[in-house]
Amino acid sequence: MEKQRKKRPTPFIIHDEYFFKAKKEWYRARSAFKLIELQEKFSLIKAWMKVCDVASAPWSFLQVIRKNVWNDWLVVGIDLQKIDNFWQENIHTIQHDIYEFDTLKPKVEAIIWEWKLFDLVTSDIAPKTTGRADIDQYESVELNIWIVKFADVFLKKWWNLVLKVFIWEDFNDLLKEIKLRYKKLSVYKPFACRDRSPEEYVVCFDKLN
Ligand SMILES: C[S@@+](CC[C@H](N)C(=O)[O-])C[C@H]1O[C@@H](n2cnc3c(N)ncnc32)[C@H](O)[C@@H]1O
Repeated sequence: MEKQRKKRPTPFIIHDEYFFKAKKEWYRARSAFKLIELQEKFSLIKAWMKVCDVASAPWSFLQVIRKNVWNDWLVVGIDLQKIDNFWQENIHTIQHDIYEFDTLKPKVEAIIWEWKLFDLVTSDIAPKTTGRADIDQYESVELNIWIVKFADVFLKKWWNLVLKVFIWEDFNDLLKEIKLRYKKLSVYKPFACRDRSPEEYVVCFDKLN
């Protein structure tokens, strides 16, 4: 009798064209191509900008930002996760939880004290997913509301904020907060996002205050 093989679970990581492209071009994650596409579409990053990227690990957004600003320019990355083997001049990384704003604030201020505010804040934040779409998207919206509050304090007036959010019912709560603070917004899904993923990017233009 033929031995019955156990069915293997489907691997979670999909090695698609962006995965291989990231390896080839030395990006630390395929997410890099999402920001590259957003940059091509909206020209968000200018060479003279001081940029803060929230939820940066494993730092591929920072690699893209670094390539688009002047060489000695300030770039700050914040993430819950520890920074390993990543060092490039003028990139400052802070290991911190965005929910703990009171303790995060002085750390950010210590880095940007000379300039006081950022010209662009980007975020690719994603909660630890549970597999329950309702819970995951609720948490995604909550995280983003905190990033909007972070930008209230650290982003210059008239400049832009980029968010990634899992779009579902609670998205309206986030939209409400954004519309109070920004002149206009655009929702966009880069090709590098997986089709089955609920993630989309919200580009918030022209901070009002
Ligand atoms: C999709 S990854 C970001 C990938 C990154 N943009 C890149 O290009 O390499 C989402 C990140 O959100 C971070 N994150 C989730 N919750 C967070 C929180 N409360 N505070 C800070 N970072 C958080 C995770 O640690 C994770 O590194």
